[in-house]
Amino acid sequence: MQKILVTGGAGFIGSHVVRLLVNKYPQYHIYNLDKLTYAGNLENLRDVEHAPNYTFLKGDIVDTNFINQLFSQHQFDAVIHLAAESHVDRSIVSPMDFIYTNIIGTVNLLNAAKTTWLGNMAGKLFYHVSTDEVYGSLGDEGFFYETTAYDPRSPYSSSKASSDHLVSAYHHTYGLPIVMTNCSNNYGSYQFPEKLIPLAINNIKNKKAVPIYGDGKYTRDWLWVEDHAAAIDLVFHTGKVGQTYNIGGHNEWKNIDLINLLCSIMDKKLNRREGESAELITYVKDRAGHDRRYAIDATKIKNELNWQPSIQFEEGLERTVDWYLANDEWLQHVTSGQYQQYYDQQYGVK
Ligand code: NAD
Ligand code: DAU
Repeated sequence: MQKILVTGGAGFIGSHVVRLLVNKYPQYHIYNLDKLTYAGNLENLRDVEHAPNYTFLKGDIVDTNFINQLFSQHQFDAVIHLAAESHVDRSIVSPMDFIYTNIIGTVNLLNAAKTTWLGNMAGKLFYHVSTDEVYGSLGDEGFFYETTAYDPRSPYSSSKASSDHLVSAYHHTYGLPIVMTNCSNNYGSYQFPEKLIPLAINNIKNKKAVPIYGDGKYTRDWLWVEDHAAAIDLVFHTGKVGQTYNIGGHNEWKNIDLINLLCSIMDKKLNRREGESAELITYVKDRAGHDRRYAIDATKIKNELNWQPSIQFEEGLERTVDWYLANDEWLQHVTSGQYQQYYDQQYGVK
């Protein structure tokens, strides 16, 4: 029985990773460590919460003593580290939360893994889940490669870049067996509605303005979250120790084009007049330091590990809309209270 610690498993991507591992590998025991911040939600994992090979552990990766005790108690064989503060806009308002969780929290995990595995690193693995934002911002042309120099430009991406460097440093300095992936924008079920796609779905549903930052021509490379979870499974089992793999959808959309597509899907699903939802599009003040374009070159993971996205964007987006429309209760639970305060502050509206 392998003991695998997944951090941030109650979040968006983490919950998909936990579900996949719990269902696919009964021979593993999956420990999900999560602080349950505003972004963590155990409702994301209702379907696996009673599985015999699953345990939820509530805790903060910033708490050094807690992390050391946890590793000493459970003697994990591997770590898949997703816990992070993940929203760029929040990092602009409150950078320190990002520094503590994304940098200090990661170092706490690295130290605990190093101590626990000291003298016998064989078969152990520290898998660090990171983002394409560490590479900075592209112009109209070009892609991010694994060899692209880091050039993070927001407090969020800088904190993720710092954590990536520390993970590499622990490999080179202490021989810690690590693997890392840098993925593009994910979309799909269970994503907290502060991020563009679920925020827009929720607003369109409620006939609220859909805020588009700046000129709306900022470009992102979108990947269905279940394809990311499948890539993490593959890299965890077949990735080469010490390596980094980029993961992306080869699926670039300017924000305004994506939102127009979403509006037309929503018009059909909600039996609205064609063009009705698009009337909600509202240009608002730009994000500070907004990165213009992200685009991943995913050739390495395709050629070396035989991974590629399984579905087209239009199909994934329609499935995502269907999920949010069918899961109104989930949406209501996560959009109450603290989220509402944040929303009013960020967009200046009630
Ligand atoms: P998320 O915000 O939905 O989830 C983060 C989870 O981490 C939450 O469950 C939260 O409670 C937990 N957490 C936060 N601080 C913690 C702490 N101090 N201790 C323990 N748990 C804590 O994030 P996500 O979108 O699922 O992203 C997961 C990971 O993937 C992050 O590392 C992020 O940088 C990376 N990533 C995200 C995307 C994306 O498009 N969302 C793309 C590439 C990489
Ligand atoms: O690229 C991977 C990254 O993708 C992850 O590392 C981050 O955790 C994740 O949050 C995401 O970052 P982005 O900043 O790209 O995602 P977000 O959904 O916040 O914004 C997507 C684009 O839409 C971006 O250009 C900003 C714009 N936007 C966003 C919001 C929330 C708007 O125009 N209006 C909005 O209201």
